[in-house]
Amino acid sequence: MINQDTIGKIMDTARIEEVVGDFVPLKKRGSSLIGNCPFHNEKTPSFHVSVAKGIYKCFGCGKGGDSVHFIMDHEKYSYPEALKYLANKYNIEVEEIAQSPQNIEAQNARESLYIVSEYAANYFANELWTGEEGRAIGLSYFKERGFREDIVKKFQLGYSPDVWDALIQSSVAAGHKEDYLERTGLAIRNDKGKLYDRFRGRVMFPIHNFTGRIIGFGGRTLKTDKNVPKYVNSPESEIYHKSNVLYGLFHAKKAIRDADNCYLVEGYADVLSVHQAGIENVVASSGTSLTTEQIRLIGRFTQNVTILYDGDAAGIKASLRGLDMILEEGLNVKVVLFPDGHDPDSYMHHVGSGEFKKYIENTRKDFILYKASILLKEAGTDPIKRAGIIRDIVESIAKIPDDIKASVFIRECSGLLQIEERTLLSELNKIRAAKFKKSSNTNNAQSQQFQNPYQDGPPDNLFENPDPGAALAPEAAPDNDQIQEREIVRLLLAFGHELVNWDKIDNMYIGSFIMQNLSDVTFEDALCKRIIDIYREEIENGHLPVANQFIKSEDREIQDLAITLSTSPYTLSDNWYNKHQIYVRDETVNLKATILGGIFHLKKRKVDRMLLSLLQEIKTEEDSTNQEILMQRYSFIKGVEKEISKFLGSVILK
Ligand code: GTP
Ligand code: MN
Repeated sequence: MINQDTIGKIMDTARIEEVVGDFVPLKKRGSSLIGNCPFHNEKTPSFHVSVAKGIYKCFGCGKGGDSVHFIMDHEKYSYPEALKYLANKYNIEVEEIAQSPQNIEAQNARESLYIVSEYAANYFANELWTGEEGRAIGLSYFKERGFREDIVKKFQLGYSPDVWDALIQSSVAAGHKEDYLERTGLAIRNDKGKLYDRFRGRVMFPIHNFTGRIIGFGGRTLKTDKNVPKYVNSPESEIYHKSNVLYGLFHAKKAIRDADNCYLVEGYADVLSVHQAGIENVVASSGTSLTTEQIRLIGRFTQNVTILYDGDAAGIKASLRGLDMILEEGLNVKVVLFPDGHDPDSYMHHVGSGEFKKYIENTRKDFILYKASILLKEAGTDPIKRAGIIRDIVESIAKIPDDIKASVFIRECSGLLQIEERTLLSELNKIRAAKFKKSSNTNNAQSQQFQNPYQDGPPDNLFENPDPGAALAPEAAPDNDQIQEREIVRLLLAFGHELVNWDKIDNMYIGSFIMQNLSDVTFEDALCKRIIDIYREEIENGHLPVANQFIKSEDREIQDLAITLSTSPYTLSDNWYNKHQIYVRDETVNLKATILGGIFHLKKRKVDRMLLSLLQEIKTEEDSTNQEILMQRYSFIKGVEKEISKFLGSVILK
């Protein structure tokens, strides 16, 4: 465990804008920095970084936290891993305190899986370069296929001998536990309890995660026997999750950023060949069909993907649909086809690296136009088929989140399909409207079209808004007092330390003022109640809590809410002001109205609910005396309600 002093040092040193800035380009806007959220796909930045508060918050997807949470979320690190990352970034020496054996065990297990994988990769490489069988079979195979030595070395390729337990023997002799070999899938235990190597008599392709650690392997057989699977791959393990790994990304990431483009191929061999041709920005989804996570992984480095396809027509048609997924993530997709059944690997070795490079640069086509042209060719002059194509293509265009881009495609396809732009646009709107309905039915407030309610000005849709009311309406009001209670917490965090000098109240902190005025109010929202209880207790002990105490809370729920509330102004007050036709954007201009508004809004809400439940009771009460008492109570509370309303009106209109 990392000791508290070190954690403190890390927290003091880490600057949120630098930590986030390593992954997200940030621009200054007002008092915060903004950028495109790395946690969801968006076209207008709603990801805010507050340098002063040391926190980030996305108004689109709601994620927020401090530097440590950013690294945890972004890199999928555990808390200590994130702390170590930051310590390393800022050259802070990490002091650890002794841990319980169970803790060490759990933490070390993952580490051990990495270590044993690394050991295996070295073992396989060593067999390839120095083993008799490795050199004769493995190395000569790579040479025959035309792979240069530097490429074989760079990708740490290897050879696993055709023996039942070569790797196991060697690893155990070197002190590695069988258990870890099993947990990485390098070894398999049979029914009789005997352990044997998963990969035997295969050339080995280590799979790296994007920080360069080995997490799994692909092993290719050299036999031509059809009954032997060409590739055997590592299974999912504690360190290897296929859906978010791209083969070659570690070696490609810098080049992807530099070129602002990522080539996507199908196989390990393709990655090596394209790399060898001097094109290093290449990755493979290797075997699995492309996942959204993999697309997002690419999206962290570039918005441009170029797919390098084998030329066979059936395969192309089948994959067209898969590519829509990339469009949906907002990336630009281009495609390159190879002639005569070549794949990138065979074509590179066929024409040589210079020609290959020229070829992929000169023949890449935009995916949508390419799709339009092949479907069109297929349909010929059949009008019904052509109508089907239009829908199909517009469906792809509808996946593009960026309206401007979509409109460009509409224009280009209109030329290609010889159909008026207007017709395509109306088709597009139909698809979007249907999609929108579907997403609002499933209660997904964040439709693709109207992602960010916080963006400046109205949404810049080029297209008709199918249902503006539904799109821009706030989420349905909760059935309790959560909104009003959160507003109080927000006011406490934002203004608790300011002094009140109103009429008869002199030099009182707003924090104390609010708590005093709400001493008779019970908070219902569990999380708000926890914060209010802490606040109240501290005040009773003579301390006035500061916002940071909640923002930095170890309780993740409290922290999340504190961050949300201290980064999103006008939760209640905006509606509030609008309702009263007072457009005061800066609530500090009339702090008194803001604070009293918050307090009395909550009180009114509580009173309204009391009235409602009394009414219910009166209706169901059969005893007339009891009914009488309830009525009296009702009219008393109604009087209070009137007072509050009157008060609210006067405060607001002042
Ligand atoms: P070469 O045939 O050596 O050129 O390999 P390749 O890497 O080009 O493979 P190919 O294009 O045939 O297949 C693409 C990817 O699919 C491979 O890199 C593997 O990840 C995966 N794959 C291919 N065959 C198999 C198989 O039999 N089993 C499994 N699990 N995966 C396979
Ligand atoms: Mn191949």
